Amino acid sequence: MRARRCPDARRTDEPREDLVVLERAGDAGHLRQKPQLGDAGESRYDPRSPPLILVGMRVDFDPQAMDTRNFYRLLTAVVVPRPIAWVSTLSARSVANLAPHSFFSVACVSPPVVQFTSVGRKDSLRNIEATRQFVVNLAPEHLFEQVNATATDFPHGVSEFDEVGIAREPSSLVKPPRVAASPVALECELHSTVLLGDSTVVFGRVVHAAVSEAVLVEGHPDVRKLRPLSRLGKDEWGTMGEVLEISRIPYADWPDGAN
Ligand SMILES: Cc1cc2nc3c(=O)[nH]c(=O)nc-3n(C[C@H](O)[C@H](O)[C@H](O)COP(=O)(O)O)c2cc1C
Repeated sequence: MRARRCPDARRTDEPREDLVVLERAGDAGHLRQKPQLGDAGESRYDPRSPPLILVGMRVDFDPQAMDTRNFYRLLTAVVVPRPIAWVSTLSARSVANLAPHSFFSVACVSPPVVQFTSVGRKDSLRNIEATRQFVVNLAPEHLFEQVNATATDFPHGVSEFDEVGIAREPSSLVKPPRVAASPVALECELHSTVLLGDSTVVFGRVVHAAVSEAVLVEGHPDVRKLRPLSRLGKDEWGTMGEVLEISRIPYADWPDGAN
């Protein structure tokens, strides 16, 4: 690890004539730019205004020189927040398995594919290889302790549904059950796996999505009702924070852009 000062770095707690609209966010003392709104609440953001420079000193971390575990701890502390796929599977002997995976994302739009990563060969991965199906259940805030309990390293053949006492319900198109108390279930057929070093990325084609009526607003899932958990670094987890909304800027509206 090596600390160095970036040539362009400016401390943001120094007075800034060009950025007068700074506000402190909470007690952490972070600085952020306040949205500039017109009388009707419209954005008055000028895309040509200089961006806020946030850093002073940077510390360098070299993955080649560091212990794998320590670099993993760094990566999981900075790739945040990560959504949690609460993955249910069935073993070849039909034992229902449930485990959280935060190395999780959407991988493809058409066909709809999601992905998660098994670090090492966990029961979820072994079951999917055997049965080629799984369900990604959304991990909601109110099941925080249960989600964590399903990450216990129970022996193969022991069901986390039974051990943790989680109610299941049948899926529509696949054999692994859904978590009854989760508002969203994405039923998946195995698309492919990719082995990367010590980990296996699992891609699942989503063949059915079941969403609780209670979280829909005008037919669309509302994040304020879903209240998803997320994974942060160390033993930290996140809950829903402030939700910001902004439209994307078409190039035609960019100052001196397409005109
Ligand atoms: C919130 C959370 C996220 C996790 N994310 C992952 C992950 O992305 N990949 C992984 O291999 N293990 C992850 N784990 C650890 C597994 O859930 C844990 O090893 C579990 O026992 C695996 O269960 P299984 O053997 O039944 O598949 C995570 C644990 C927690 C609590």
